[in-house]
Amino acid sequence: MATRALRSGFLFFRRFLANPRTVGAVLPSGRQLGREMVRGIALRPGDVVVEYGCGTGSLTESIAALVRATPGARFLGIEREPGFVAVLRERFPDLEFACDDVGNVRALLEARRLPPPRAILSGLPLILLPTMEHIVATTAAALAPGGEFRTFSYIQSWPLPAAFRLRRLFRERFAQRGCSALVLSNVPPAWVLRGVKSSLAADAVAIPSAPRTTDDRSINDRPTNETARGTAEADPAGRH
Ligand SMILES: C[S@@+](CC[C@H](N)C(=O)[O-])C[C@H]1O[C@@H](n2cnc3c(N)ncnc32)[C@H](O)[C@@H]1O
Repeated sequence: MATRALRSGFLFFRRFLANPRTVGAVLPSGRQLGREMVRGIALRPGDVVVEYGCGTGSLTESIAALVRATPGARFLGIEREPGFVAVLRERFPDLEFACDDVGNVRALLEARRLPPPRAILSGLPLILLPTMEHIVATTAAALAPGGEFRTFSYIQSWPLPAAFRLRRLFRERFAQRGCSALVLSNVPPAWVLRGVKSSLAADAVAIPSAPRTTDDRSINDRPTNETARGTAEADPAGRH
């Protein structure tokens, strides 16, 4: 177990050195962050949960526990690094992983005849990716009505322009938003952001045809009081 963790940690670090922007972190996420990512999600038989950017499976462990606890619930992990996918398939032989780009989420679900997901949980370094806007839009479109998108935001990234843009995208794309308490035990500490899709299919929004990378610093980024079901609400912006 300790050897596997060491091997995974070493592989993760090596992939970070080779691809700092897409791997986006020196260390895998901690267990507490994994628990916060799934806190309050209630699945029903037949529900689908998708994980983006599984890495070596640090968040997958918590997500797998959630999925396994609901008979008939299904999981799809999407990870673009073949070396990570090999580790994931060995570590979670009962789970399905696609070695692919998350931008293809809808095609990947369709190919497996999976219905729109109840939750999409992301470990992607979204604010480092030029495709952030496209990924958030595609995710909102792929979710089932009332489905949830969750991702995390590191404490040191919160004031960055790209993080402002990410929170603006949450306001634009999701009917309800929320933010967890700061997970202090994670290295680095992080908040979990949540966006809940409208339960009315008529509220569906368009996906931009091409990724945009414009730096928009003029947005009003004040935190909102909207809440989503599940986790405790916090006002992280008030802490800076
Ligand atoms: C910060 S690591 C997170 C790993 C793990 N989920 C965690 O929290 O420790 C980000 C992961 O996202 C993957 N990734 C980045 N862009 C991706 C994309 N467009 N499609 C699929 N995976 C992607 C990287 O290969 C990397 O494994």
